[in-house]
Amino acid sequence: KEINMSTETERRVENLLAKSIGTSGIIGSSSTSSPTSSQGSKQSLPNMVTTDGESRARLGVPKEKFSLELRDMQISKKSTPSARAMQSFREKLPAYKVKEEFLKAVADNQVLVVSGETGCGKTTQLPQFILEEEVSHLRGADCNIICTQPRRISAISVAARIASERGENLGETVGYQIRLEAKRSAQTRLLFCTTGVLLRRLVQEPDLGGVSHLLVDEIHERGMNEDFLIIILRDLLPRRPDLRLILMSATINADLFSKYFENAPTIHIPGLTFPVAEMFLEDVLEKTHYKIVSETDNFVGGSRRRRQLSSKSDPLTEMFEDVDINNQFKSYSISTRQSLEAWSGAQLDLGLVEATIEYICRNEGDGAILVFLTGWDEISKLLEKIKANTLLGNSSRFLVLPLHGSMPTVNQREIFDRPPSNMRKIVLATNIAESSITIDDVVYVIDCGKAKETSYDALNKLACLLPSWISKASAHQRRGRAGRVQPGVCYRLYPKLVHEAMLQYQLPEILRTPLQELCLNIKSLQLGAVATFLAKALQPPDHLAVQNAIELLKTIGALDEIEELTPLGHHLCMLPLDPNIGKMLLMGSIFQCLDPALTIASALAHRDPFVLPINRKEEADSAKRSFAGDSCSDHIALLKAFDTWKDAKRSGRARDFCWQNFLSPMTLQMMDDMRGQFLDLLSDIGFVDKAKGIKAYNHYGHDMEMISAILCAGLYPNVILCKKRGKRTAFYSKDVGKVDIHPASVNAGVHLFPLPYLVYSEKVKTTSIYIRDSTNISEYALLLFGGTLKPSKTGEDITMLGGYLHFSAPKSVIQLIQRLRGELDRLLQRK
Ligand code: CDP
Ligand code: MG
Repeated sequence: KEINMSTETERRVENLLAKSIGTSGIIGSSSTSSPTSSQGSKQSLPNMVTTDGESRARLGVPKEKFSLELRDMQISKKSTPSARAMQSFREKLPAYKVKEEFLKAVADNQVLVVSGETGCGKTTQLPQFILEEEVSHLRGADCNIICTQPRRISAISVAARIASERGENLGETVGYQIRLEAKRSAQTRLLFCTTGVLLRRLVQEPDLGGVSHLLVDEIHERGMNEDFLIIILRDLLPRRPDLRLILMSATINADLFSKYFENAPTIHIPGLTFPVAEMFLEDVLEKTHYKIVSETDNFVGGSRRRRQLSSKSDPLTEMFEDVDINNQFKSYSISTRQSLEAWSGAQLDLGLVEATIEYICRNEGDGAILVFLTGWDEISKLLEKIKANTLLGNSSRFLVLPLHGSMPTVNQREIFDRPPSNMRKIVLATNIAESSITIDDVVYVIDCGKAKETSYDALNKLACLLPSWISKASAHQRRGRAGRVQPGVCYRLYPKLVHEAMLQYQLPEILRTPLQELCLNIKSLQLGAVATFLAKALQPPDHLAVQNAIELLKTIGALDEIEELTPLGHHLCMLPLDPNIGKMLLMGSIFQCLDPALTIASALAHRDPFVLPINRKEEADSAKRSFAGDSCSDHIALLKAFDTWKDAKRSGRARDFCWQNFLSPMTLQMMDDMRGQFLDLLSDIGFVDKAKGIKAYNHYGHDMEMISAILCAGLYPNVILCKKRGKRTAFYSKDVGKVDIHPASVNAGVHLFPLPYLVYSEKVKTTSIYIRDSTNISEYALLLFGGTLKPSKTGEDITMLGGYLHFSAPKSVIQLIQRLRGELDRLLQRK
């Protein structure tokens, strides 16, 4: 009110400001319905367990009595016939042979490394040995065993398995805890949790008080969380001399971990596996008579045809298959040209996978088939193909089961159980079946040779999640899955040459992903300066990658000048998400724009639902454009497409709708599921009350200006400037200078943008640097929701983005902007 706004643009800032004031109540106490006014009722967080298990001893039952109860129960449950059957199964596992040696080593050493072939019984037996030992020696009340798992699905399935081996219900002495879900009780002595849950627990309990044994599983995978956790544990051990740490790994590289912990002793569990024959693409093609039909021919000449199979950065950049005109194999060649675009186009030939399954079913004996694919898309496409296949489609003879990390946990048992007789089990899995989940009756493995993996280019600040070749170690691991109960066969759908060129081990995740989430964790655990801390890692990440992460966190306002967490940073730490996506969700919920924030965040975290058919590109483009309308926004196109899909789904027209509009139903479904997960996370940290529903936080959910402001909040500093150059518009980025709009964007070819900036989700480098999805935004969105403001001394100018944005306005406008920013900070602090 103090400001006399005159021009059109000033009216616009007033508008936007008015909305922010109205929705968040950040000035005065104008709004009572605001989601933020209920700060008093901040709930305690279910995933933050402060004291472990609240053991019954502590709840009033004397320790001795409790220990006795535990022991008696263990004895009585073991005497039932089913428990005896379980016991004899357990005694046949290779892990059983090292039981005494293992228990002695645990008693004598603070740290122990155990390695063994997948399926030998590490995860299900070793924690159980400790539990049985402690309980039978009447130390049950004091024992508190935690075993971490990299994935939610394995935490649940392993806990369920052990409970049933012990003849108990899940949640009694054996339980699990994953983000937003737990089954445990005061009686629980052995808890399986995800590594993420343990890391969050360390925030509250840096010394892991009350924990007697900690087992860290699957360390050979070298996941970011596990690599991070062992740095913390190495520092923690001297403070907790009574804590026992056991690291469990498949047969690879156990020495590396032993060295890291001052040459801790190692135990190797000898494998009990049958020989597995291996075949490469050459042999598979010969057997199946399958003809690869080339879709990406880029060379046709003479009597030969060249087909690009794949490409990848070092060492397998591109691989070509040269086929003569009769489609007989000739040779493979590898070139080292780097081409991201060409690479992402190379896809697995699912027809070949199908042909191989058919071949096995026709010609080979009984036994389950395990197929390794890269992701949900391939799994569901193959599922469809198999259903349509007249040989395989006969549902009374085949049991086809998908297995994917983000699958709901229903029907788990089916995967492990033997199928009814004369039925063949076919499991379509991602690399989750490589080492963390063992299916006993697998006799045939079909390996596509790839897995989805993130890679990070610190120089260009580019990150991508793409299928890439697995390592030799992984290929070996996958092959081994076939020899659990009898000799097996592994069909590798890639040439021998590719196998030879594979890396020995995969690069640890910490070296190939952006580090901002990790940096936030380091800060919230108060582990000191990020760079110093990370230098202690098993394989420390590149200095530049660390610097980029810290810079980004400062830019988005999660860290202050001296690298301390801001209130926003504190909230972001609580969300297991990329900080940019987390910020978009937080701002979406504060500013009553929750529904679009959930949809856009889910697409960012998963992927774009628009598919790009090579031969019908124009039609696909125009479908996308019609969703975008005149918004100059790919994100709006995405929102409209998603919402229309939801409507179509309700009226049973989803399939046709997707087909007509070039949308992937699988991606849309996945996005829908992720929206639900994000909502749970926001309610978990007290930003929304789930019971009220999304509508209660969506007053401005259809307001373009508000949506683009939220986009700006989440995507900043991904901003480019649109400059008019004659009839065309040129685009400039602060980091790399001139950039282009990706041809698939609705903003490609737009001559005149109504507003001066574009925020974008991703930039990719191919022939030029392209901006993928973008949205046209005003400078006011940037001033209110972008990075740190640098007001000039005169109080009439603000610069941002390191001087890249220069904004002048009357002093009063500048002051109002600063005041609003200050209020937003205070609001975040109060939450
Ligand atoms: O951890 P590791 O790979 O060494 O093996 P494990 O997960 O402890 O599994 C040992 C054995 O238990 C497997 O070979 C399966 O036979 C069986 N198991 C099962 O039947 N059901 C489960 N949910 C987990 C394991
Ligand atoms: Mg295991």
